[in-house]
Amino acid sequence: MRKLIVGNWKMNGTLAQLDEIGQIQAGAAAYDNVDSALCLPATLIHAAKQRFADFQFGGQDCHHAPKGAHTGCISAEMLTDAGSAMVILGHSERRSDQGESDADVRAKASAACAAGLHVILCVGETEAQRDAGQTETVILAQLMGSVPDDIAAEHIDIAYEPIWAIGTGRVPAIEEIASVHAAIRTHLTERFGQAGRAVRILYGGSMNGDNAAAILAVPNVGGGLIGGASLTAEKFLPIIKAAS
Ligand code: G3H
Repeated sequence: MRKLIVGNWKMNGTLAQLDEIGQIQAGAAAYDNVDSALCLPATLIHAAKQRFADFQFGGQDCHHAPKGAHTGCISAEMLTDAGSAMVILGHSERRSDQGESDADVRAKASAACAAGLHVILCVGETEAQRDAGQTETVILAQLMGSVPDDIAAEHIDIAYEPIWAIGTGRVPAIEEIASVHAAIRTHLTERFGQAGRAVRILYGGSMNGDNAAAILAVPNVGGGLIGGASLTAEKFLPIIKAAS
């Protein structure tokens, strides 16, 4: 299975960073056995796609409604219109900062699919849940609640992001990543049958050029969702290389 390496720029980046995006796009082209993409602030997507048409871009959230009186929100159709191929949904920062529930994420995922966007749906446990031995219970509940019943398996990938690993420099042991990804795979195959084997399960949380090769070699790790280390070509390209 081809690996998918997605950079999540979160709330970082202005038009001044288009040159950096160009360096990422040019560098990534050398690894044609890897799928790579950047999920940018919505304000950058159109300009980036205009300049780098061959690269894949995406958004970081969308509303569940196609249009209407939702001040400050962005619809899935708007992301598609701006040049997005995908959208991250259910990131833990939105679940915590915006209080998004599993039901919210599920509705957004349905809207994104209807607009032709590929969904990268995030799940992950807090440190307290991990310490209480609840990791797999939490993850499976999020999958049950967040993944729409009628979504086609080829329209979604899952990102497993332990919340305590995001931006902290801490990563789970390889065995822990293997165990959680295996549990997610079992859920996906129970749910989607054979098609569930083709859903990529990305790992996210302090992935960098030093640890990427070991993490990406874990069974059922289909790629990475990268935050801080995706902001520059210097840090992001070694991760794409590790996936090649
Ligand atoms: O979406 C990306 C993740 O939250 C990981 O962020 O690589 O900065 O830890 P990070």
